[in-house]
Amino acid sequence: MILGRLNHIGVATPSIADSIAFYREVMGATKIHEPFDLPSQGVKVCFVDTYGTEGALNGTQIELIEPLPGNTSITGFLERNPQGGQHHVCYEVPEIHAAKAWFDSVGKRVLGEPRIGAHGTLMFFVHPRDMQGVLTEIMEVPEGH
Ligand code: CO
Repeated sequence: MILGRLNHIGVATPSIADSIAFYREVMGATKIHEPFDLPSQGVKVCFVDTYGTEGALNGTQIELIEPLPGNTSITGFLERNPQGGQHHVCYEVPEIHAAKAWFDSVGKRVLGEPRIGAHGTLMFFVHPRDMQGVLTEIMEVPEGH
């Protein structure tokens, strides 16, 4: 396992529209991507770049996450945290299956098989109780990074 770049921080929100306004008006975000549904994960997602312009590809993003109807995990999170809050952190790795084998080998609970995530590359989550209390997403480096 070689720890790669911090790709994004996942933030659950009851309203992506309200969160977009917050990141634009309070945090000064200038590059906010179009929200989109990710039905395979039961969520609507919106990426906010922490760099405004050409540096965006090298910057870290905030991933706003709003549950779609029928979602249980994010809905449960919002029941415990009604205004939303930090949900997970996501690190890049060069090869997702090698990373999964590593976490398996050190006894960390990988939640499900690698699957296509919001960036269109393979990803998985590792159980927060095995990760110092942090729900951790591991994703394969996007092409071109
Ligand atoms: Co994520």
